[in-house]
Amino acid sequence: MIKPLKKAVLPVAGLGTRFLPATKAMPKEMLPVVDKPLIQYAIDEAREAGIEEFCLVTGRGKDSLIDYFDIAYELEATLRERGKKSALEALQPSSVQAGSLVAVRQQEPLGLGHAIWCARSFIGNDPFAILLPDDIVKSGRSCVAQLVDAYNQTGGNVVAVTEVPREHTNRYGILDVGADDGKLVEVKGLVEKPNPEDAPSNLSIIGRYVLTADVMEHLAKLERGAGNEVQLTDAMAKMIGHVPFHGLRYEGTRFDCGDKAGFLEAQIAFSIDRPDLGDAVKAFLKKYVDVV
Ligand code: UTP
Repeated sequence: MIKPLKKAVLPVAGLGTRFLPATKAMPKEMLPVVDKPLIQYAIDEAREAGIEEFCLVTGRGKDSLIDYFDIAYELEATLRERGKKSALEALQPSSVQAGSLVAVRQQEPLGLGHAIWCARSFIGNDPFAILLPDDIVKSGRSCVAQLVDAYNQTGGNVVAVTEVPREHTNRYGILDVGADDGKLVEVKGLVEKPNPEDAPSNLSIIGRYVLTADVMEHLAKLERGAGNEVQLTDAMAKMIGHVPFHGLRYEGTRFDCGDKAGFLEAQIAFSIDRPDLGDAVKAFLKKYVDVV
C-alpha cells in the first residue's frame, strides 16, 4: 500500500554565500520575490499538495524564518485599528496551524544530505517531500502536487527533473535514464555535478523531491561526496533498484533563486503578469532594453 504523503522538509541552513553581503545578517530564504519571501513560495506549494506538517532545518542566524510564521499580534492590532484590510489579508498566508511547523537545527552546514538527515525524528517511517526554497516554480498545479500525483501511482521516490544545457551539468544532480514515456522517466543512476563529458544525460534534478524514509539509513553513514559535503544525491543513488524511482518532467518553469541571474529573472516573471505591476514592469523593461 502506498502511504499518503503529509510531511515536508525545508532545508534552510545553508550559508547563502552567493548573495553576500545581503545574506550576512538575513537568511537567503527570506529574500523576497516581488512581495513574498522565498520560504513562503515553498510553503504555499507544499500546502497545495495536501502537505500538513513542515520541518525547517535551520542554523545560526536563521531565527527570522521561524518568527515569520508566528502571529504578529501588535502589527495585526495596529492594522485592524487603522482599517488596513488589504495589508491584513497580505499577512494571511504566513500563518500556519498551531503545531504544524517544527524546526530542527543543523549546527554545521555539512551539505544538503546532512541537513535532511537532521530531520530524521520528524520523518520517522513516513514518506516526505523536500523543497529547497531557493528554487521556485511557476506553474498551474503546484510542482510538489504534481510529484505527489505521480507518487500516488508509482510509490517510492519521485524527483522533479528538467533539461539543462549540457555545459551546465556540473551544477546539478544528473540522471542516468531508463524507460521514458516523455513525462515519467525511470531513474537508472544519479551523479552529482558531473562534468559535461561524463554526464549520463542533461536531465537535472531540481529542488523538489518525494522520498521514502529509507533514505535516512543511507544518510546516517554521513559519507562525504562532491565538494566534501554529505550529498543527498549519493544517498538517493543507493536506493536505485530497492524502491521504485522516477523522475517527473513537471509542468512549469523553475527559477534558481540561489543564483543572482535566476533571482532577477524570477522578479520579472512573477511581477509581469500581476494586474497591479505588469504595465509598470513592461514599461521599464522596454526602457532599459532600448538603452542597451
Ligand atoms: P545551496 O547549495 O544553494 O547552498 O543549498 P547555500 O549555502 O544555501 O548557498 P550558496 O551556494 O553558499 O550561495 C541548497 C539548499 O540547501 C540548504 C540551503 O539552505 C538551501 O535551501 N542547505 C545546504 C542546508 O540546509 N544545509 C547545508 O549544509 C547545505
